[in-house]
Amino acid sequence: MAGRKIAIGGKGGVGKTTVCAVWAELFSEDGLEVLAIDADPTTSLASAFGIPRERSPEPLIAMKDLIAERTGAGKEAIGAYFKLNPKVSDLPERYSLDIGRRVGGRLRLLVLGAITQGGGGCACPEGAFLKTLLAHTTLQREEVVLVDLAAGVEFMGRASVQGIDAMVLVVEPGGRSIEAANNIAVMAGELGIRCIGAIANKVTDPGQRELIESQLDGIVLLGSLPYSSALQQADLKREPIFEADAEVVEELKRAKRSLIDLLSSKVG
Ligand SMILES: Nc1ncnc2c1ncn2[C@@H]1O[C@H](COP(=O)(O)OP(=O)(O)OP(=O)(O)O)[C@@H](O)[C@H]1O
Ligand SMILES: [Mg+2]
Repeated sequence: MAGRKIAIGGKGGVGKTTVCAVWAELFSEDGLEVLAIDADPTTSLASAFGIPRERSPEPLIAMKDLIAERTGAGKEAIGAYFKLNPKVSDLPERYSLDIGRRVGGRLRLLVLGAITQGGGGCACPEGAFLKTLLAHTTLQREEVVLVDLAAGVEFMGRASVQGIDAMVLVVEPGGRSIEAANNIAVMAGELGIRCIGAIANKVTDPGQRELIESQLDGIVLLGSLPYSSALQQADLKREPIFEADAEVVEELKRAKRSLIDLLSSKVG
């Protein structure tokens, strides 16, 4: 699994951050180096790890001086000349937060944030910076990278999923989340991602799994998580969700094995 890059997408509020945080802990329990990247403008991955607000890293995209320095653009110089390929290789090490409390592995959190204006593809220094950083972390680093994507399809672009090996779409029992997953899957396929899986979340009735599975177009259902008030409670109290619900963690362990199988069958 080392060197694999997995992006987690889906409609808003379906459980992307939850899945990302639990998988990050599970991969690091396997003894792997894990870099969890929060690429959502509403940055909430830190809270899912139970990191207090005051210790949560500032999103890189908000560091105007750093972006200006690396891209060569003035702070507000949108539309001016700037480097399309700024130096970013040192940033994950410098700006990530070490939360490696699991035995053996290492778990770090990098809070990127996302461009909120003009979508992820905007031609501005922040856009160039973010794209290069995502491309760098997902192409050149030998670790398992998990990217918690922004909700919906807007952020999906060639640059934002560069080097991604697998796209995992979280769906809840509801037509719109399934539709969103199918749309993102099509886009991911067009961008060359061959390995596309789904996780059903907040399932309250055993029949929902089959109903969801039957509506997914060419997406492998990797697992199904029950609705859990313990997860909700942990979120409410800003406690680590990894410790909240053993059943959810067990199911995500199984889903992770299915993902690894899918990756080896599709990517080799
Ligand atoms: N299986 C579950 N049972 C009950 N509540 C859940 C479950 N999974 C997630 N939640 C709750 O649903 C809410 C959204 O979850 P989460 O933040 O993981 O979703 P998201 O897709 O990352 O949302 P966003 O689009 O806002 O980033 C949270 O309050 C979370 O605690
Ligand atoms: Mg989220």
